[in-house]
Amino acid sequence: MGKKLLLQHDNVPGIDTYEVYRQQGGYASVEKALKMTSDEVVEEVKKSGLRGRGGAGFPTGMKWSFLAKPEGVPRYLVCNADESEPGTFKDRYLMQRHPHLLIEGMITASYALGANTAYIYIRGEYFYIVNILEKAIEEAYTAGWLGDNIQGTGYSLNMYVHPGAGAYICGEETALLESLEGKRGNPRIKPPFPAVKGLYACPTVVNNVETIAAVVPIVNMGGDEYAKIGIGKSTGTKLISASGHIKKPGVYEIELGLPVEEFIYSEEYCGGILNDKKLKAVVPGGSSVPVLPAELSLKTPTGEPRLMSYESLSEGGFISGSMLGSGGFIVMDETTSIVRNLHTFTRFYHHESCGQCSPCREGTGWMEKITHKILDGHGTLADIDLLWDIQRKIEGNTICPLGDAAAWPVAAAIRHFREEFEEYVSNPASIVDVKHYYNIHNLVEA
Ligand SMILES: Cc1cc2nc3c(=O)[nH]c(=O)nc-3n(C[C@H](O)[C@H](O)[C@H](O)COP(=O)(O)O)c2cc1C
Repeated sequence: MGKKLLLQHDNVPGIDTYEVYRQQGGYASVEKALKMTSDEVVEEVKKSGLRGRGGAGFPTGMKWSFLAKPEGVPRYLVCNADESEPGTFKDRYLMQRHPHLLIEGMITASYALGANTAYIYIRGEYFYIVNILEKAIEEAYTAGWLGDNIQGTGYSLNMYVHPGAGAYICGEETALLESLEGKRGNPRIKPPFPAVKGLYACPTVVNNVETIAAVVPIVNMGGDEYAKIGIGKSTGTKLISASGHIKKPGVYEIELGLPVEEFIYSEEYCGGILNDKKLKAVVPGGSSVPVLPAELSLKTPTGEPRLMSYESLSEGGFISGSMLGSGGFIVMDETTSIVRNLHTFTRFYHHESCGQCSPCREGTGWMEKITHKILDGHGTLADIDLLWDIQRKIEGNTICPLGDAAAWPVAAAIRHFREEFEEYVSNPASIVDVKHYYNIHNLVEA
């Protein structure tokens, strides 16, 4: 069994209640942190090597140490619980089943940052989790872990849950801050970064749900011990949302460094490909990261086993690698139409583009239209080149990385599966239609 740091109490009945959580050792990291200086807590997080679990993988301790500390100006911790990346559902799992783990992490992190107000900005569609979190926050107030003078230490913290309104762009940290301030969720131009000018123009740290939860085992076990788990610069454990054509979809906690092949085929994790079909491709880190064909999913370009780590998944760059991203691991079997899958992604990004930057606003629309045209049997070879050209003109030319996130899947699909696009335009009869797709997966009556 792999090491569990976040989901170790997954099977404990009532772990979502304060009483049971506390019986299992909950809130020990707050007790420990409050006896340390805030800088000492930041140091432990730095030593742990923890990297942001929201997608970019930025070192958390370094981000915390960038936080500006002008006298008399409040600082904020904002938890990014917007989780809208297609293929990613691990934060939902964590908040729904382990709300106190997140709250404990929020208190410990807020103390380290010197923040007296903390927000959880949660995706609007997770309205049922708002209730779970608010109940847990109330329990934490009652038990004296939140509010004024926590455990008699003189440290005070208030915590609020703020639901979004269902926009993917509000997961981008500066759009999130705009939305939290009550404005339209448009990303800000950076610099200034939130660490200097964030919420209400005050120094702010924005971290993902899982990143904040990981602070609990880090403080409990110490940063050095945490850094021994995992591989190289990919320390600790990672929650993976596994979906697609696998026997056992779900959320798994893995030790970073686990071979991709073991993750897909072992009984402990995905249990193999559905109906024992052949693997065609994997999107390892959520819809925004490049798709990998089967052979590059399991092996790096140099023939080494591909591992679930930041470094190994990106080995080969964007020519033959991908990214760990948010850990949204989507598996596709041999019957999958890559063009259809890409069309679904392009529709999503077109719908979710905030429209501020013209390359993204216009380009995502064109990418949706062209993939639709190809699927409709009216595509030409020139359309494939046009699609390639458009994604190149979006990448790197927008205020926020939504543009890149929309461009990368297009580039990778054409790079690795160009022959499938060409087959669709030269022989429209070969196009896998939706009805056929559903039939072969027994999802609807034949
Ligand atoms: C379009 C877009 C959507 C994003 N959505 C999320 C999200 O839902 N959750 C998240 O934690 N980070 C998301 N991010 C990344 C955040 O901007 C930010 O990097 C992250 O919250 C930082 O936290 P971390 O360092 O703990 O990963 C998104 C980024 C972009 C560009």
